[in-house]
Amino acid sequence: MEVPLCRSSYDDCKGTADWLQNRIKHTPRVAIICGSGLGDLADLIEDKIVFPYKDVPGFPTSTVAGHAGQLVFGKLQGRECVCMQGRFHFYEGYSLNTVTFPVRVFFLLGVETLIVTNAAGGLNGSYNVGDIMVIKDHINLPGFAGQSPLVGHNEDRFGVRFPCMSDAYDQKLRALAIQTAKEQKCGSFMQEGVYCMLVGPTYETIAECKILQKFGADAVGMSTVPEVVVARHCGLRVLGLSLITNKVVTDYDSHEKANHEEVLATTRLRAKDLQRLVRHLVTKI
Ligand SMILES: *[C@@H]1O[C@H](CO)[C@@H](O)[C@H](O)[C@H]1NC(C)=O
Repeated sequence: MEVPLCRSSYDDCKGTADWLQNRIKHTPRVAIICGSGLGDLADLIEDKIVFPYKDVPGFPTSTVAGHAGQLVFGKLQGRECVCMQGRFHFYEGYSLNTVTFPVRVFFLLGVETLIVTNAAGGLNGSYNVGDIMVIKDHINLPGFAGQSPLVGHNEDRFGVRFPCMSDAYDQKLRALAIQTAKEQKCGSFMQEGVYCMLVGPTYETIAECKILQKFGADAVGMSTVPEVVVARHCGLRVLGLSLITNKVVTDYDSHEKANHEEVLATTRLRAKDLQRLVRHLVTKI
């Protein structure tokens, strides 16, 4: 498959942001990136303006089952926001620049807070399928291997050359998420932990899972980290939520196998809770 080129110089991002700005009614303050099967959140948006990615100049298109591939602007519980129904993954063949292009566009549109959601495998033995994990920190494993969206010329209009990542996941937003979860009767399945990104598209081997557990990771997935790196580079506040859709296999005698259908099935079960959580959360941001 030929992957469409998408460059993300300042002018490219500005061009896309201006194009969108001319077509929307309100400036979004919150952007939400919906992970696998979590795109229904966008259905709750009122006063909607929808742009399929293919219609937005400069936007790549999403190729994964479970991702709709459109930008939805409007109001969630009265708050101006934009929802990305379907994200871009490195494993689809996009560069990390392309993967993170929308985040820079959101920044130029005036977004201040980014909420990222994803489906992740549970590494922490005390996690259950269906738990929602507030991301406390991440491990940028592709970064260990030389893959970062910030490699290359630094664009000062986005941010500094050496951005801080020790505060990537906003402490106040994390506390707010946990408090809101309690109010929404989701407290019994909330966790807080470390998300580790692998490139994929393979699920992890048993030996790999054991390494990740030793690294201190609680959940593993194939997205989110590049978006967060770029969001922090341009000064957005970030909240990350992982839905634990399966438990990773760490036993050679186990007959369980990770698969995308199981991920989507668990997502369907818990999607409503996650939507309710995010919906009530945005009113407090
Ligand atoms: C797993 O999660 C529990 C509950 O959040 C936490 O107390 C613990 O430190 C985590 N890590 C491990 C290795 O169990």
